[in-house]
Amino acid sequence: MSETLFEARDLTRHYSVSRGPLRAKAVVRALDGVSFGVMAGRTLAVVGESGCGKSTLARQITMLESPTSGSLTLEGIALADASKTQLAQLRPKVQMVFQNPYASLNPRKRIGSMLEEPLKIHTRLDATERANKAREMMARVGLRPEHYDRYPHMFSGGQRQRIAIARALMTGPRLVVADEPVSALDVSIQAQVLNLLMDLQRDTGVAYVFISHNLAVVEHIADVVMVMYLGRVVEHGPTRAVFEQPRHPYTQALLAATPRLDPAARQTRAIAIGEPPSPLAPPPGCAYAGRCPLAQSLCHEQVPLLREVGGHRVACHFASDAA
Ligand SMILES: Nc1ncnc2c1ncn2[C@@H]1O[C@H](COP(=O)(O)OP(=O)(O)OP(=O)(O)O)[C@@H](O)[C@H]1O
Ligand SMILES: [Mg+2]
Repeated sequence: MSETLFEARDLTRHYSVSRGPLRAKAVVRALDGVSFGVMAGRTLAVVGESGCGKSTLARQITMLESPTSGSLTLEGIALADASKTQLAQLRPKVQMVFQNPYASLNPRKRIGSMLEEPLKIHTRLDATERANKAREMMARVGLRPEHYDRYPHMFSGGQRQRIAIARALMTGPRLVVADEPVSALDVSIQAQVLNLLMDLQRDTGVAYVFISHNLAVVEHIADVVMVMYLGRVVEHGPTRAVFEQPRHPYTQALLAATPRLDPAARQTRAIAIGEPPSPLAPPPGCAYAGRCPLAQSLCHEQVPLLREVGGHRVACHFASDAA
């Protein structure tokens, strides 16, 4: 059994926005009561359509932003209560890989110095030690020694993402949050980068929060899947269980819309129709009710709470153990 590395409890993140011609203030509930754990050395995938709160979640986990309410715990330490010294020790343990390796790498920095930068900030290694570490990491992610002095524009998308991954791993983090790390890459390159991530996990024991809207990718890489809809978790469980028997109609619709590698897994299921509701004015009841083929009046009145169904957590009034 591996231990819980990271935990989020009732995590909420609201944004104030002004809208309309009168610039009226409104609140976007980008995250609304999200709870989950990440086990050391494992991968939690977070999936859901655009706007469901995936990147907002990434920014809370990586401490780029502070949540509106709720708690985050890393290695048993609540981040909100951590001292400055504790935070300085915890920060390098959580790193991020962004979706777009064209935007996330500084075009004026050579690869070597880019990789050494986190070591300058977080360690007391001298220049030679930093350079050695950078070269080791380059080899590990499949870059050649001569790449050390090159600039990002000389690399392909896949190679750039390898650089971004190398940079994220330089401080020996325990958790890497990867926000759509392959969706900007050619399909032919995606599998290589996913395999690299899995190899690195096997070698270093790093845990991932892997964010994706593509369930086919997730099936391959994740131990546990968490499906989000409009800032909330609607289904959460072991990857195989969720893929074999999705319990929430939204997960079923997502899976039906996903081309699967395994022909036996291809099934016809209800497809979600239309768009998710606005996070500025979420409907009462279940946020998915307006698109759900199974919705009944209860669904429009009462928010379904997450509950245990068939070994995973599902937020649907009508999810049942029966298939
Ligand atoms: N800084 C912000 N100010 C106001 N609203 C925001 C801000 N950041 C995110 N939002 C809103 O919060 C909601 C969730 O956004 P988020 O970017 O987390 O979604 P996402 O799941 O990452 O989407 P995508 O798949 O398109 O990347 C959206 O409605 C978005 O408009
Ligand atoms: Mg996003």
